[in-house]
Amino acid sequence: MRQPAHGRAGGKVILLGEHAVVYGRPALAAAVPLAVDARLEPGAGPRLVSDHADDPRGAELVAAAARATGLDPTRVVVHVRSDIPPGRGLGSSAALSVAVLRASAAAAGRTLSPAETLACGRDLERIFHGTPSGVDPAVAALGGCVRFVRGEPPEVALVRPGARLRLVVAWGDRPRSTGAAVGGLRARWEAARARYERLFDDVAAVVADGIAALERGDAAALGAAFDRNQALLETLGVSSPEVETLARHARVAGARGAKLTGGGAGGAVIAIADDADAVAAALQARAVDTLVVGIGDDVRIDGRMEA
Ligand code: PMV
Repeated sequence: MRQPAHGRAGGKVILLGEHAVVYGRPALAAAVPLAVDARLEPGAGPRLVSDHADDPRGAELVAAAARATGLDPTRVVVHVRSDIPPGRGLGSSAALSVAVLRASAAAAGRTLSPAETLACGRDLERIFHGTPSGVDPAVAALGGCVRFVRGEPPEVALVRPGARLRLVVAWGDRPRSTGAAVGGLRARWEAARARYERLFDDVAAVVADGIAALERGDAAALGAAFDRNQALLETLGVSSPEVETLARHARVAGARGAKLTGGGAGGAVIAIADDADAVAAALQARAVDTLVVGIGDDVRIDGRMEA
């Protein structure tokens, strides 16, 4: 086993299209400058030692990543440190999966291609929630701002903003479960497929408008797309009063649009604003944590692929 063996991967925000992306519609997602670092050591394993609360699925992740890279899982211990708050829709489980995978590959003396990282990262993310689209590990593996469509292989294209647009990301102190939100929507879709397929088509139209707005550098049109997407997420039943209140406060503080990001049912909110610092300050006054990021900024994490 090669030492030292490190791996790193980043979090993300879904700008537009979460949930509908599970049903084959496109999503737009961007890397954020929050990351997970993993360090692999020989020891009695498989074992994951985390700076966050221990998760029983950690050992399963370490074992699966070890097997995928040709290591003996019983001899692997991985220590992780994460800046990504878990359970807020910021891609913490995908970043954890990709960071552990990269550390395992480094220990095995292997270099994974972006396509291998993406495919294997998605398999590992399944340990945390059942039917992921793969958008989170795609951004964790590749970085940047991407249009993503699930598939074998997925369609991943870099989107270049026409101007520097600033995004406020805000999250409270209550984690929630993406798996539960995805499962709840699946049950509703099974009971009324035609209705939900139409809603997913409406989301796809918003995503197309939002991508065009981003490429033009049009903050007003991108903000309008955020608001339309939020209304559809509410109709899909994956929003919550907590995120709706935060989105409303962001708009009152001057945001051009705001929505939940990721699995929903709580979690993080994103807002597009000309004066992003003012919106972030207004939200911080409501006891939430915030991060201001330029959409598509070169968030260099590790192993970035230029598309
Ligand atoms: O909550 P997160 O960061 O895992 O994002 C989930 C995004 C969904 O579209 C709801 C699920 C998926 O697998 O794409």
